[in-house]
This record gives sequence, C-alpha cells and structure tokens, in this order.
Amino acid sequence: MEAAGEKKRRVCVTGAGGYLASWLVKLLLSRGYFVHGTVRDPGDSKNAHLKNLDGAAENLQLFKAELLDYNSLVSAIAGCEGVFHVATPVPPKKSSNPEVEVVVPAVTGTLNVLKACSEAKVKRVVVVSSAVAVLMSPNWPKGKIRDENCWSDEEYCRKTENWYYYSKTLAEREALDFAEKNRLDVVTVCPSFIIGPLLQSNINASSLFLINLLKGVRPTVENKVLYLVDIRDVADALLLVYEEPNASGRHICAPHLVKMQDLVDMLKNLYPHHKYPEILTEEEEEEEEDCEMHSVKLNNLGWKCRTLQETLIDTIEYHRAAGLLDRV
Ligand SMILES: NC(=O)c1ccc[n+]([C@@H]2O[C@H](COP(=O)([O-])OP(=O)(O)OC[C@H]3O[C@@H](n4cnc5c(N)ncnc54)[C@H](OP(=O)(O)O)[C@@H]3O)[C@@H](O)[C@H]2O)c1
Repeated sequence: MEAAGEKKRRVCVTGAGGYLASWLVKLLLSRGYFVHGTVRDPGDSKNAHLKNLDGAAENLQLFKAELLDYNSLVSAIAGCEGVFHVATPVPPKKSSNPEVEVVVPAVTGTLNVLKACSEAKVKRVVVVSSAVAVLMSPNWPKGKIRDENCWSDEEYCRKTENWYYYSKTLAEREALDFAEKNRLDVVTVCPSFIIGPLLQSNINASSLFLINLLKGVRPTVENKVLYLVDIRDVADALLLVYEEPNASGRHICAPHLVKMQDLVDMLKNLYPHHKYPEILTEEEEEEEEDCEMHSVKLNNLGWKCRTLQETLIDTIEYHRAAGLLDRV
C-alpha cells in the first residue's frame, strides 16, 4: 500500500480484470499512479493476474463493483482524480435478451460511472468506446474517409440487430451528452479490433481470432476488410488522452487497415509452417475504400503505434510460449 506521506495520482479503472483494462492498469502502475481497479468478483481466479503486475502490491487496490450498482461505483471512484471507464458487456453474437444483457449495462452503466465521477469531482474521465460506434454509418458520403464526426447509425444498428454496436454507439453519445450538460471533462477513444499478448490466463475473442487463422480451423474465410490495433498501443492512447490537456471529444484508434488476404499473406511469410484457411475472393473491391477511417486526431496528440508485423510477432510468440497454439 501507499507509503505514509506519499501522494500518488489516484485513478480508477473499471472492469480492471478484462483484456484491455489489465494492460492499462499495468501501464498506469509503471507510470507511478495509484490505481483503484473495479472487478465484479475480486476472488475470481480470472482476476488473479492483476495481483502479479509490477507495483500491484503497493499501488493497486481492487474494489468489488457492478456497473448497475451505483453505490459500488461511488466507493471505487471516491478520492480519484481520474477515471478510465473500460468495462462493458462484450456479448456472444446472439443474445437472448440484448436489451438487458448488452444495452442497459453499457448505457446505464456508463451514465452511472459518469454520475459518480461528477459527484466525486473527478478531473477527467476517459470512456472506452469502439470503432463500431463509427463504422456502421451507411449514410456517410461514399468514399469520404471516416473521422470523429462520423457516428454509427443507431436505428440501422437496431434494425440489423447489431446490439453490441448499438450499445457502444449509444453509450458514447450519452457520455458526451452527459459531459456537456454536467460540465464534466470526458474524452472517448474508439479502438478497432484489438490484438496482442494477454495478461490474463483465459483465452478471449482476440486470441481465438489469430489461433483459428494459424490452425486453419475454418477451411475458408471471406476476404473481409479488417482494422487492427495493438492492445499496448490502445493502453498508450488511453493514458495519452488522459494526460494531454488538449485532448477533447472522440479519438479514433484504428491504425492498421488490412484485407484478410493480406493478413494471411503476412502471417504465412512470418510463420510458413501453419495450416491457413483459403481466402474466398468474391468480396466487392469497393468495400475497402468505403470503410476507411483514420487516427489522425490521436496522431496529432503524439500517439505512435507499433507496426502490424511487430504486433503479429509479439502476439504469436506470446501464444506459442503460453502453449495456447497447441491447446485449441
Ligand atoms: N477487444 C476489442 O477488440 C475491443 C475493440 C474496441 C473496443 N473495445 C472496448 O474495450 C473495452 C474492453 O474490452 P475487452 O476486450 O478488454 O473486453 P473484456 O476482456 O471482456 O473486458 C470487459 C470487462 O468489463 C467487465 N464487465 C462487463 N459487464 C460488467 C458489468 N455489468 N459490471 C461491471 N463490470 C462489467 C468484465 O467483467 P467480468 O470479468 O466480471 O465479466 C470485464 O472485466 C470495452 O469497452 C470494449 O467495448 C474492445
């Protein structure tokens, strides 16, 4: 715990045991912050890795909190100068009750966090949104690169039953709206699909995505357009927008645009002895051009990211060392 007389900058991270939040906690500890991490079950083995992070014994305190339990958030946020709201339900593709399982925890949960931040006079809140709150925008002018002015169309997300997209778009919009009405300093970051090494012991969707490609689990895959970003670069972006006084509003964090074919070719080059899927090529060429977005606003704040090759190597080496490429 904090030494007597020592005053560390205190921040709260919601959903601390998750994939992204764990890397953020690690980064914050390495930069000398005292971190309040919220978890739903501090005793659950899926959160055990947090205690092993460098500096955790002295500078990480876990709080049991649930997004829909306002008082639990108040306790976790008390005394913090900043909050990183990372927690959100990441649902399986089909949810039997999306309103209850996905939308309410994302939207009401975010508003609960912001209300608690307002009460505690937190100086800045960083809300993790997603590129899915940008990309599902069929009315965006064709060929125009998507920037922070581009929002996913909520009605379209609902109609197409993309509940996660809907929840992230609505939560981000409500967060910025709350900020304006309540004069709370809120900045958001919209990362694309995140890949990279894991700090936790359980495999997640990002891991499975690469493992499945390396093992050719599906014999064929479509030549889809992908936006990828390294988990460590996202953590850097979150800290950057927290610390940088000039940061405001939304920040797209989506540096690597690749088609599946290019990704598989890169992987084959690096790791030729794997069984890769065959790429189906009937995808319309237009798609790549039509979903372009950029991360210029973050870059202008000084954000730099790894090359995709570096990310792929680090991720695969991590999975190999952890025995995860043999297990699935
Ligand atoms: N992974 C990606 O590719 C990606 C891309 C763009 C944006 N994002 C965003 O990044 C953030 C983190 O995602 P992730 O990939 O790190 O997901 P994750 O590993 O599933 O982490 C989500 C965290 O949220 C917590 N959580 C969920 N529902 C909660 C609730 N009702 N109350 C309290 N905590 C709750 C989970 O706690 P439990 O462990 O208790 O379930 C978990 O710690 C999310 O906001 C996500 O939308 C992720």
